[in-house]
Amino acid sequence: MAPALEQDVGAATEWVAKNRNAVEAALVTFGAVLWRGFAVHGPEDFERFLSDFTPFSQGYVGGTSHRKAVTGKVMEATRADDHINIIMHQEMAYLPTTPRLLAFYCNKPAERGGETPIADMRGLMEALPQGLQDKLKAHGVRYIRNFRNDETLNDWRADPYFNHYSWQYWFETTDRAEVEVAMIERGSNVQWNDDGSLTIWTVLPATSVHPKTGEKLFFNQIYAMRQHRVTIGEHNITRIDAAYPNYLDKPNAAAFGNGEPLSEEDFMAVHAEMERREVSFRWEQGDVMLLDNKLTAHGRHPYKGERDTQVMLFE
Ligand SMILES: [Fe+2]
Repeated sequence: MAPALEQDVGAATEWVAKNRNAVEAALVTFGAVLWRGFAVHGPEDFERFLSDFTPFSQGYVGGTSHRKAVTGKVMEATRADDHINIIMHQEMAYLPTTPRLLAFYCNKPAERGGETPIADMRGLMEALPQGLQDKLKAHGVRYIRNFRNDETLNDWRADPYFNHYSWQYWFETTDRAEVEVAMIERGSNVQWNDDGSLTIWTVLPATSVHPKTGEKLFFNQIYAMRQHRVTIGEHNITRIDAAYPNYLDKPNAAAFGNGEPLSEEDFMAVHAEMERREVSFRWEQGDVMLLDNKLTAHGRHPYKGERDTQVMLFE
């Protein structure tokens, strides 16, 4: 590598802009590009390095992960606890408009674990059991959010452990009509339950057409949104399953578009296929990984020690 690319973020940035076509071609072929050893040392460098790409105009509005801005368009990757295994997903696939690309930057690798595994989504749909494929194609995916009612006394869901917010807190109003108008404008279905709690949902296709290649790809979060022992561990899932015998009552959930839950068998079928496709590597400080969000899913392994991974979304 030319020494300037290792020493000067300006030169490295120029290299990306000059080789933009090659980078885009590599993304279409491989679904991911990793830069290692380039002069990227901190969030400002990360933002500059990829400044030839257009930031995702919607930002992370409507996202479900806990994260905050680091600088400019750079966000921390996630605040999910270090022991949690974030399973494979395509970013924001539960929303109608999604980022085309996303980039990760390793500002500080964890002592142990903390990899960002990736998986090729080409052919994944076709590899699933026929019955599951048929249901996904026929019904799409229903994305559900549940909010409790602040006025319900002794509501166990108010325990912060469950992250089950009240609609009054979330929408900053006590006016049901105001919530309804805002949600219907966004294309959501709105249902007020007998105890004054709120359920909203949208239905999206389970597949999406790639903007450059025209391929029809698995693109949804029916699998990723299912909390499971393989993601949050036996202890946590036991506690949550006891609280929510029907998992569609959890704060966030996904089902087939007709409201039918994803069975354990179907979950494991997707899981096996994701695991089979998983590729991961140890992060090094300064690494930048750019992903095509439709061709390549990503996750996060549990980790020990401090970990600082940052993310940017692009159109
Ligand atoms: Fe993600």
